[in-house]
Amino acid sequence: MEGVTDTAFRQIAKTWGADVVYTEFTAAEAIFHRARRAMERLEFNPSERPVIAQIFGREPEAFVQAVKLIGQMGFAGLDINFGCPARKVVAKGAGVALLRDPQYARRLVGLALENTTLPVSMKIRTSIRKERQSLDANQADVHTAVDFIAALHGLPVAAVMVHGRSYEQGHHGEVDAAMIRQVKKHFHGPVLANGGIFTPERVPQMLSETMADGVGIARGAWGQPWIFQQTKRLLKAGGYESVDWRNLKQTIIDHARLVVKTRGERGLIEFRKHLAKYVSGFPRASEFRNQAVRINTLADVDELIKNIEKQTAVSESD
Ligand SMILES: Cc1cc2nc3c(=O)[nH]c(=O)nc-3n(C[C@H](O)[C@H](O)[C@H](O)COP(=O)(O)O)c2cc1C
Repeated sequence: MEGVTDTAFRQIAKTWGADVVYTEFTAAEAIFHRARRAMERLEFNPSERPVIAQIFGREPEAFVQAVKLIGQMGFAGLDINFGCPARKVVAKGAGVALLRDPQYARRLVGLALENTTLPVSMKIRTSIRKERQSLDANQADVHTAVDFIAALHGLPVAAVMVHGRSYEQGHHGEVDAAMIRQVKKHFHGPVLANGGIFTPERVPQMLSETMADGVGIARGAWGQPWIFQQTKRLLKAGGYESVDWRNLKQTIIDHARLVVKTRGERGLIEFRKHLAKYVSGFPRASEFRNQAVRINTLADVDELIKNIEKQTAVSESD
């Protein structure tokens, strides 16, 4: 997730059991120009491995150069984003816009495969309308994930993650499990189902509804990175423990320290939104969130923790 899954958060996700983590999506053009922000997005700690670099773009020369550079950086794989609905991305004909132009996407994926030895995977959505203006979408009016997979047939793509929503749905609304099942039927390799997983219980349901080989969890890990460990325990042993204050507090402290270590104290501005999520489960959440979005220093983080302990009477022993 752009703006969320930086190296500090990915390290936290790993300690809580994530099997594979992805960088924030990064523009191939920005990598090509070695833009500072783009290069920072591609930094990772060895403890995160396996890490997959996710890129998006359209311009072939920049795309090839970005793929080549990523191939030298120690990533476990390269993922191409064909799912992003952000206006600035779609306007440039990249991200989910390429579901409308699968032949062009095929060319980009082909270029990636020719220019790296890394496994190349893709992130897609279930569909996009052919015409932005068309109001009542039926099958004939949309490009589907299955059309896309069919157009890329024969390319040795390593895996595909399907966000089970259409472009028009954005990030809300029901996940189309049937479409993910169709992708599973048509795609030769592993299919990962994504969308709307906010509890461990949702994972076995999603796997059986979609027949997918695995799942991708995005917002469900934000503020509750233990979801990975809980999910694994649920799948393996049929149950899991909820997270107590001691674990939550340690996660907040570890996460804040990692942010400072990688970005300096100024990185804590970005950490505010994580902190607000971490404290959102408490009865007096709005007060804690207000405090969370004002922190500037590690001392402010400690202050918030003390405040939580005082106001809610939670302590080390809880
Ligand atoms: C703030 C935010 C940033 C995102 N950035 C990316 C991104 O960089 N790359 C990507 O593939 N998906 C991105 N997504 C989409 C998520 O990966 C995921 O497909 C979507 O949120 C649905 O999954 P969820 O319901 O588990 O959150 C982003 C979503 C959000 C909310």
